[in-house]
Amino acid sequence: MLEVEAINVFYGQVPAIRDVSLRLDDGGILAVIGANGAGKSTLLKAIAGQLRTRDGVIRLDGEDVSRSAAHQRARRGISLVPEGRRLFRSLTVGENLMTARATRRKGPWDLAAVYEMLPIVAERRDRRAGDLSGGEQQACAIARALMANPRVLLLDEVSLGLAPAIVGQIYAGLPAIRAQGTAILLVEQDVQQATRASQDVQCLL
Ligand SMILES: Nc1ncnc2c1ncn2[C@@H]1O[C@H](COP(=O)(O)OP(=O)(O)O)[C@@H](O)[C@H]1O
Ligand SMILES: [Mg+2]
Repeated sequence: MLEVEAINVFYGQVPAIRDVSLRLDDGGILAVIGANGAGKSTLLKAIAGQLRTRDGVIRLDGEDVSRSAAHQRARRGISLVPEGRRLFRSLTVGENLMTARATRRKGPWDLAAVYEMLPIVAERRDRRAGDLSGGEQQACAIARALMANPRVLLLDEVSLGLAPAIVGQIYAGLPAIRAQGTAILLVEQDVQQATRASQDVQCLL
């Protein structure tokens, strides 16, 4: 479903990732691990279209999307939960979730479904996103990404700096996402967390 073939990404003249390949099937999950600076965020941004690849191909359902803009890839079903989460801090949780409707993708995820999967998000629905704890913001960012009904969900270090309880709630929700046919590509520095979520682990050097 998602195929990444030998992509290179440069910041100016400096290579950030070299010859990275991976593949994901419908409802599949793959964890990519790597040290700080290995290029994990770069990889996810390249797949989402926020960074250009210099070489290689990114295919979604067999079609080359390597040259498509980020918003086009979002409409095709690639959803990134970025490092730092990038919520609209002055909007409520519920309003943040509704912004994902801009992709106009149909599917199983709507407000009721994401609230059921992540109860903490439901509890905070009328609060301003900027007033939430880090973990609550992370859960909200994942809920927002799901509202776009993605084919593939890209998760950038969801557990970083969060309390174990909320990390547990987030990871516990992943099987329900995959059961809807959405594939998950997650990157983590924490090897244990990655291997717990996914049998398939790839290392970025
Ligand atoms: N905007 C940028 N400009 C130049 N270099 C960058 C930029 N962002 C990241 N890098 C470099 O690219 C490499 C990979 O970074 P990143 O993808 O953020 O790694 P990770 O997410 O694995 O910690 C690092 O060496 C980092 O310093
Ligand atoms: Mg990173």
